[in-house]
Amino acid sequence: MNNRADVPVIAIDGPGGSGKGTISTRLAEHLGWHFLDSGALYRLTALAVMKAGLPLDDEAALGAAADGLNIRFETGKGGVKALLDGEDVSTRLRGEEVGIIASKIAATPAVRAALVKRQRRFRKLPGLVADGRDMGTVIFPDANLKIYLTASAEIRAQRRYKQLKEKGESVNLSRLLGEIKARDLRDQSRSIAPLKPADDAVMIDSTLLSIEEVLKQVINMV
Ligand code: DC
Repeated sequence: MNNRADVPVIAIDGPGGSGKGTISTRLAEHLGWHFLDSGALYRLTALAVMKAGLPLDDEAALGAAADGLNIRFETGKGGVKALLDGEDVSTRLRGEEVGIIASKIAATPAVRAALVKRQRRFRKLPGLVADGRDMGTVIFPDANLKIYLTASAEIRAQRRYKQLKEKGESVNLSRLLGEIKARDLRDQSRSIAPLKPADDAVMIDSTLLSIEEVLKQVINMV
């Protein structure tokens, strides 16, 4: 087996709605590399916790749920499917409520510790594009390129509003903005692996840029 440290990694971190999911997926496709959506692991843990009806302040139970997660990702024609206990939960996973619970349980040290190895197992040849909050700071501190993608909370709320509207969901822009700000604060202020740029990360502010423009900048750096 090759040494994992020999496998190149591009870490793309930033707050929700900064465009990092789209940029990371497109970059992984462009390079023909593997892709880690670390947020999906936290969301799957949140779903497992909700399914089991666990109290969110029971650290040991949350850690055990993250440790015992029975999940699979299947790549097919329609993209990547996420399965929890054999059930396709790809759509539920992206819901606002799951995102909020994911952010809450992500502040639990036992949950983060349980997910470290799972995330590092994605590091396989020919390379990995890793999307998250702590990819460059904690999970892959030796990443070959670290990008911190950000955008104003207002523009991120507008993007999310558009996405949800297109899906036919009824949404309220100012409530969405409030939720985004609350989630940013929770992700940035937790004591373990908070959302912050690595010292050696390249900062990109996508507030005034299109996805194509950001992607072009990132590909040039690669
Ligand atoms: O990127 P996302 O919205 O799918 O992530 C959902 C939550 O999971 C996010 O609010 C915080 C948490 N998360 C994390 O703590 N660390 C990561 N690397 C990825 C996500």
